[in-house]
Amino acid sequence: MEEIIEVKGREILDSRGDPTIEVEVKTISGSIGVACVPSGASTGKFEALELRDNDERFYGKGVLKAIKNIELIIAPEILGLDVLNQEEIDRRMIELDGTKNKSNLGANAILGVSLAVSRAASHFLDIPLYKYIGGFFTDTLPVPFLNIINGGKHAENNLDIQEFMIVPFGFNSFKDAIRASSEIYHTLKNILKKKELTLGVGDEGGFSPNLENNEEALKLIVEAVDEANYKLGKEIFLALDSAASSFHKDGKYFFEGKEVGSSFMIDYYEKLIDKYPIISLEDPLSEDDYEGWKDLTKKLKDKIFIIGDDIFVTNKEKLIFGIENGIANSILIKVNQIGTLSETLEVIKIAKMNGYNYMISHRSGETIDSYISDLAVGTSSLMIKAGAPSRGERVSKYNRLIQIEEEVGENKRFGSEFLRIKR
Ligand code: PGA
Ligand code: ZN
Repeated sequence: MEEIIEVKGREILDSRGDPTIEVEVKTISGSIGVACVPSGASTGKFEALELRDNDERFYGKGVLKAIKNIELIIAPEILGLDVLNQEEIDRRMIELDGTKNKSNLGANAILGVSLAVSRAASHFLDIPLYKYIGGFFTDTLPVPFLNIINGGKHAENNLDIQEFMIVPFGFNSFKDAIRASSEIYHTLKNILKKKELTLGVGDEGGFSPNLENNEEALKLIVEAVDEANYKLGKEIFLALDSAASSFHKDGKYFFEGKEVGSSFMIDYYEKLIDKYPIISLEDPLSEDDYEGWKDLTKKLKDKIFIIGDDIFVTNKEKLIFGIENGIANSILIKVNQIGTLSETLEVIKIAKMNGYNYMISHRSGETIDSYISDLAVGTSSLMIKAGAPSRGERVSKYNRLIQIEEEVGENKRFGSEFLRIKR
């Protein structure tokens, strides 16, 4: 038993310069856990609610109400509880809130406390966070998905697809995978420069040039991989997050200047997959296009990871619906979509039990908190995405994983699970 004696929130800035919450939890013997809350831009309709002040401060984006909820409502409820009893603490916060989407206290308030509690617990036990989350046999590093060209809601350019990622899994270690990614990123920069395209970056650190069409982004990446002397389809694979809800309206996709249906989009993806070593498609279709999702899943489920982000919002019920209806074969995991560590772990458990893969993910609005790196190792996740190999809030995740790899030792299993699905 290690009593919680203090819970404090403070308003800090995220990577977009918007306010977010940092929570500090202190226990009786002096262990402290600090955690920061991320924030999305292309959010799913059914995500847990991020409570904002909607007043004149920060153009309405202040989080003082959520911080008040932490200090005046949540703290009195959990002071004196055992910091090691994560489930009980999370359950009490969920009950205290009393809504389905945490709109009463704010998912940002609840999540900050939930994550800070787990960190304080790991400090009290004097073990790394990933071991606290996953037990002592957690020693496999996830394969990183690095978003090196940004579009959609994360950039001001003309690309509909939000994320063009490289997936370096043909390496013996996480560290080598990151080295390759960094070299490809810099080579891509030179290529863009030579072509006199803009070198500005989007929210997740990837470049954001205006291009002829979406496929051009893949062509540029292929060129960069080649020029950096890496083998496409052997060492480096590709992945997309279309975030298709953001170009879907009234049952139609507004894609590359055309108004098209889901069958057009599915054909488009099938052709891309034939042409490029694409290993996963995230949100290829809109969050409410269930029929399209079923169709696409049927066609592609044995070839690639089909990852549901907006359609599942890290929510148990949504995932179960997807499993029962043949929607996707993988789920994206974002802690702030659901709002507590316990519920996040429960969703992962359901995915595992049903043969769905899962990818731990950052948000487009981040802080330097590298919690998700420990979460990925702690849950033995095969995959993590944390943006480009550039910008402090992105590299903090990759750097933490490099540190963890040093602790657990390089592992032959790095990326090996991927061989099953290798194309
Ligand atoms: P978001 O984007 O954090 O803006 O929602 C990330 C994603 O769609 O995966
Ligand atoms: Zn997504």
